[in-house]
Formats: sequence, structure tokens, C-alpha cells
Amino acid sequence: MLSERMSSLTPYTPGEQPRDNTYIKLNTNENAYGPSPKIHEFLSGFDIDRLRLYPDPLSRNLRQALADEKGVDTKNVFLSNSSDEALSFTFYAFFDAPRGNLLFPTYTYSFYPVYAGFYDIPFTRMPLADDYSINLDDYLESKSCGVILPNPNAPTGIALPISEIKRFLDSYPQDRVVVIDEAYIDFGAESSVSLINDYPNLLVVGTFSKGKSLAALRLGFAIGQEGLIQAISTVKDSFNSYPVDILAQHIGVIAIKDREYYQEINGKIMKTRDEFTKKLDAMGWKTLPSKTNFLFTRKAGWSGEEIYKKLKDSGFLVRYFNQEGISDFVRITIGTDKDMKSLEATMDKLFS
Ligand SMILES: Cc1ncc(COP(=O)(O)O)c(C=O)c1O
Repeated sequence: MLSERMSSLTPYTPGEQPRDNTYIKLNTNENAYGPSPKIHEFLSGFDIDRLRLYPDPLSRNLRQALADEKGVDTKNVFLSNSSDEALSFTFYAFFDAPRGNLLFPTYTYSFYPVYAGFYDIPFTRMPLADDYSINLDDYLESKSCGVILPNPNAPTGIALPISEIKRFLDSYPQDRVVVIDEAYIDFGAESSVSLINDYPNLLVVGTFSKGKSLAALRLGFAIGQEGLIQAISTVKDSFNSYPVDILAQHIGVIAIKDREYYQEINGKIMKTRDEFTKKLDAMGWKTLPSKTNFLFTRKAGWSGEEIYKKLKDSGFLVRYFNQEGISDFVRITIGTDKDMKSLEATMDKLFS
């Protein structure tokens, strides 16, 4: 009954999404605060009859708003149902076996090996430095069909400065695509979008799920030179020519325009993150320096799984990774100040 391809398919496993509210959920890097209150006004006045018609296939208003926000032209903007979808099209459009392996960090977003498997793209996991940072010089040493990395990286949370990315792009062959996945860019790292005019092989992928607190809307994007955007648009139009839906098109514009609100909530998250990191330091935890809305941390004598289980029993959901080399870490999403205070007290009690 199944195709032969199905036998080798290994899907991505997302973090737990419990259906009740009994846990303080700090396991999937959702924003601690709600989306712009202006979205509420829009939804309560929305004319439901408009759902009868297909949406604008070019999402013109949203593309214009995003282009303005990022300081690029609309021809440089591609919209998708989530950044996962943009990433999937990217893998299909730019990476293939004959030109070498795709390179990405050993510890990184676990969807990358899944897409590589799905599209039959050979890949190499590149070791991180001892401090868990990415050393891009290593990526120049072997023949590759492309490079993908999140900046900041996940689950480490560590950001590369844009000067490092620029230096790398200056040496990497311009006929191979470099994808920078900026899912967490709104929490303090430098965006590479300003480099796209200088590098025809740079594609920056982003999402409304984290910094814009709209994970349920499934809205993502990619930004690059026109040739790259046309290529992923061709892939998209071979799957589904009508994304993104009408609600996402409107809500995306409202979110982009409410800059002040998002600066406020994301600023609060960064402050809470930095304060919580200090609290963890004082309690003897070793935490990697984060420019995201999560922390990757460990405590000597405990495995990630043990920490996860003890916290779950106390009502907190965090995430651990059963992967050699990082199995003693847990990844903790930054919640509200109230949640983090209560987590701090629990961690102090459980792991002293
Ligand atoms: C590094 C990274 N990229 C992309 C995504 C996907 O985001 P979304 O599909 O919600 O846009 C995530 C989600 O957690 C992520 O951590």
C-alpha cells in the first residue's frame, strides 16, 4: 500500500503540546506574552463572508509591510505557512547530492536532518567549538552543496556576529546557497538581512512564531535576491499556490505595524532571560550565553532527562535532547517574570 520512499521516512518530533493547562509550558519557545492587542480588534470586526473567496495569491499588502520592516524590496520577500515550510522549499530548491554534502552544525534545529532525509540530500554535521559556538571557517574546508544554520543557533542560543557571517560569505562559493535561519532574531542578535544585496547566494529565513508571538498562525518568510525568491516560489507553486491565508495576511500586517508593543514584550523577555541566567549562575548551573527566548543549561551530576522529569513532576515542562554530547542540558523557554520566579524557587529546592 505504501510507496517505497515511505520506508525510510523519519519525521520530526515536536516538543510536547499538552491539551490541558496543568503545566507551566517552557518547552517549545513560544513567546511568553500574547500577540498585539490590535489583532483582537481586527478579528472581532472581520467579515466572515470573506472566507468564501481565495486570498490574494501574492499577499501583496503583507509582502509590502514585511519589505518595509526589513528595508528590502517586495521582490526580495517570500511568504510561507510557517518558516518550517520556507525551509522545506529551500532544501528542495537549492541542495542536492551531486555538488557535495549539505553542512549544518552538529547541535542545531532538528528539522534540518529530517528535510535532508525527505529530499535525499546527503549532509555533514559540523562540530561546534568547545564553547558550543559555530566556527564557520570549518565550513570552508570540504566540498558542499550548501550551508544552513540558525542564527542564533538552537538549542544552544548562541549568536554569531554579522561580521563573522559576512567574512564567511566572502570566501564561500557564490553558486552555493547559504541559509541563515533567524527564527530567534528578535531577542538581541544581529540580522543578516542587510547583507542580501551583496550576496546573491544568501537566503535569510524568518518566522512570526517567536518574536511576533503568533506561533498558531503559521506564518513565515524568506528574504534574498530575486533569483532565490523565484526559485522557492516555483517550489511553492508546485505544492500550493494560495498561501498564505487571508487571516494570516491581515494579522501579519497588524503585527508588523505594532512595533512598539513587540519592542516592549521582547525587551521584557530579554531582561527576564538575563536576570534568570544570573540566578542560575548563583545556583551552580552552567548556562550558555543566549540571544534567544530560551536558555540551554545544565547542572553537574544531573542528566537532562532527570532534570526534565523532576521539573515535570513539579508542574514545569522543559525540553531535553537525547543526543550524545548535549544529553546533560535542558532547554528552558523564558516565561513571564512570575513563571520564572516560581521556576527558580522550584529549581533551587530540587537541585541544590
Ligand atoms: C531554529 C528554528 N527554525 C525554525 C523554526 C520553525 O518555526 P515556525 O515553523 O513556527 O515558523 C523553529 C521552531 O522552533 C526553530 O527553532
